[in-house]
Amino acid sequence: MTRLEKKISELDKTRIPVHVAMIMDGNGRWAKSHGFVRSDGHAEGVSTVHRVTKLSSDLGIKYLTLYAFSTENWHRPKEEVDTLMYLIGWAIERELPELLANNVKINLIGDIERIPEDARQRLFYARNATAHCTGLQLNMCLSYSSRWEITEAVRKIASQAALGKLNPEDISEETISDNLTTAGIPDPDLLIRTGGEYRISNYLLWQIAYSELYFTPALWPDFSDEDYLDAILDFQHRERRFGMTSDQVQNNI
Ligand code: FPP
Repeated sequence: MTRLEKKISELDKTRIPVHVAMIMDGNGRWAKSHGFVRSDGHAEGVSTVHRVTKLSSDLGIKYLTLYAFSTENWHRPKEEVDTLMYLIGWAIERELPELLANNVKINLIGDIERIPEDARQRLFYARNATAHCTGLQLNMCLSYSSRWEITEAVRKIASQAALGKLNPEDISEETISDNLTTAGIPDPDLLIRTGGEYRISNYLLWQIAYSELYFTPALWPDFSDEDYLDAILDFQHRERRFGMTSDQVQNNI
């Protein structure tokens, strides 16, 4: 039995997280440490996206949400932004046959209109082509930030109220969830950040209220299947209390 197979056998198959979110950090440092340019790190990072998608699908995870490009990433040097956009469009096109074969549904989250035309068309094509898929849903966050999303939600809710279609007294947590880009998707059970930083970086701030957080020093291109399984095994050993006491959770009160 390989180490990977051993870790898979240690998993509690009844407690696989439904929704895993990831902050894919460390591509730049990986490239630097190998004497490459930053964009080479992003290109290498695509292989990790391929692996984590496959493993998530094989494990029966229902939603995988990847922070592929943040609103703040637009401020990076133009050359790096252009390469990332090219890579995203190229990768989605190249991966499409395997995504279809694995029944993976692509969902796009963020201010997608800002994505350059060429990459945007490829993303839309992949989303349409996989719309019927019923396996893993791969949520790609592109030109996304949580504060942007919450601001948009507040605008939508406020305009409904201004039109008299919504009574401010009736605004609930559900109203807010329903107006986020993740409407209809259960909140992440587990958030993994690679790259050794302990930050959330404007990612899914509303949705991760009760998510388990896992930080690993592995740089994204180095994040292996074993690392991913370690994160899930760690998650399975935690007690999720959602603000209750341990006794209440254990006695199902
Ligand atoms: C952060 O590393 C990573 C990104 C900003 C981009 C992530 C993109 C990919 C992995 C490739 C394309 C994605 C898809 C979904 C096909 P960093 O550059 O901030 O690394 P650093 O902290 O070491 O500088």
